[in-house]
Amino acid sequence: MANNEMVVASLAKVLTDFKPEEISMKLETPKSSEMGDVAFPTFTLAKVLHQAPQQIATDIVAKINQTGFEKVVAIGPYVNFFLDKPVTSGKILRLILKEQSHFGSNTDGNGNNVTIDMSSPNIAKPMSMGHLRSTVIGNALANITAKNGYVPVKINHLGDWGTQFGKLIYAYKTWGSETEVKADPIATLLRYYVEFHEKAKNDDTLNDAGRAWFKKLEDGDSEAHQLWQWFRAESLKEFTAIYDRLDITFDSFNGEAFYNDKMAKVVDVLEEKGLLVSSQGAKIVDLSAINSSLTPAMIKRSDGATLYMTRDLAAAVYRKETYHFSKSLYVVGGEQREHFVQMKAVLSLMGFTWADDVEHISFGLITFNGKKMSTRKGDVVLLKDVLDDAHELALKQIQEKNPALENKNIVAEQVGAGAVVFHDLMNDRTNNFDFNLEEVVRFEGDTGPYVQYTNARAKSILRKSGVTIVDQNLDLDDVATWDIVTILNSFPETVQRAWQQREASIVAKYALNLSRSFNRYYANSKILTNDQQLNARLALVQSVSIVLSESLRLLGVKSPEEM
Ligand code: ARG
Repeated sequence: MANNEMVVASLAKVLTDFKPEEISMKLETPKSSEMGDVAFPTFTLAKVLHQAPQQIATDIVAKINQTGFEKVVAIGPYVNFFLDKPVTSGKILRLILKEQSHFGSNTDGNGNNVTIDMSSPNIAKPMSMGHLRSTVIGNALANITAKNGYVPVKINHLGDWGTQFGKLIYAYKTWGSETEVKADPIATLLRYYVEFHEKAKNDDTLNDAGRAWFKKLEDGDSEAHQLWQWFRAESLKEFTAIYDRLDITFDSFNGEAFYNDKMAKVVDVLEEKGLLVSSQGAKIVDLSAINSSLTPAMIKRSDGATLYMTRDLAAAVYRKETYHFSKSLYVVGGEQREHFVQMKAVLSLMGFTWADDVEHISFGLITFNGKKMSTRKGDVVLLKDVLDDAHELALKQIQEKNPALENKNIVAEQVGAGAVVFHDLMNDRTNNFDFNLEEVVRFEGDTGPYVQYTNARAKSILRKSGVTIVDQNLDLDDVATWDIVTILNSFPETVQRAWQQREASIVAKYALNLSRSFNRYYANSKILTNDQQLNARLALVQSVSIVLSESLRLLGVKSPEEM
């Protein structure tokens, strides 16, 4: 962070016994800007120097070179730095105007690959709000990794294999009809699946029949395979419609079925290393050596069928061999925590040191007006309906606020979808939250449309001004703009922190903060007054727009020019 470098350098000249990195780590941001822009607490020094913290702060201020700062003062046990406003704002505005959308990028990742397992819905079922979370969190993390100099590899690990397909084939063959499925594929398949579970409650033989059909599928039975292929193709069509709407792409659609011929290798290694033990006919890996509270990982069922875990192990190895990842992320709900702990444990028992680079990016549950969703019961909220409703609500507000706007429908789609995505990313990902569409699509408050609206407002000021901004006289000494300048200044550090903590919400909260600050300024100042700072103020407006657009892009949200 540009601000802190100057502070660290000046402190390092006084505190010669301390490394600049140590000093840098101690710096804090004061609660209010009246207390300065950067604070250095002296508590820990007090222990080393055997002096009162207040005294140390006063001594440092007496010795420090104040040039380049507005002032440096001791406030209790803190040394508080007030940055030189014109110099700091000139520096940051010049940098943003020069770097444009590249502002905030870094090369920390050295071009290394990061694989991101994301979205990964189950075929023959509609994509739910839960999968939406994985999709948008994964997509935002992919954009954030790229901004930090990595190369993201977005993998859609489709749930296209497993006993459920045996059940579905059984249901289809027993009471389904081709015409019904053709008329409305996913809804019909979901209904068969739900009916299967209802019937199985009273009839144990159904589960066995389902398992038998899955066994056939695994053994390459041609009828089973054809039905499976048909279900899969229909599902992909429906998923793709939603991905297109969110403008999200993938680098790979290798789902679970892709690993059918790659599991034997993993099972062999487990066997060779003596890790596979028999338990009631099944093959398991005992994980108690890694962690006594871990239940064993099941690798093969007693009928020889493989499991979700077996396919995930094969996928993990395949990804390492294919992409040579430096990190391998799995954006999957918190309910699968145990699964990923087990998977990592098996990988490390197999001797793969890269098991440490495997990370479960867990997230909380979305409830819909207080209710949990489950496909087994069929009470699922369809993502398509959510996006349609969000579009409607956005359109209604646009019609009220800006009836003359052209392309209302395109903007309503950007605002509606953007609102849903932003809301999903705005909270810490592990939080559970309830989804209330009215709240999510509001143009005021902590919402995506609010950020989009702020950005559109900034763009409109620039259009109205008719001024071409020049790279000179960018030094603002206005107290009213200082808050915006410091927020702009912290964007590069925000991008880094978002990756380090694997938290897209850090970027979303940043965008809200910048929007609020800009709107305060807009409400209280005359930006377009023709005086000598007009160019600098417009450069500020332009910079706000560049950084807001880039923040939204990182989150996977569009920035309409007008709304
Ligand atoms: N299809 C799974 C589900 O919907 C998620 C898959 C997550 N990825 C993985 N490699 N296990 O629950």
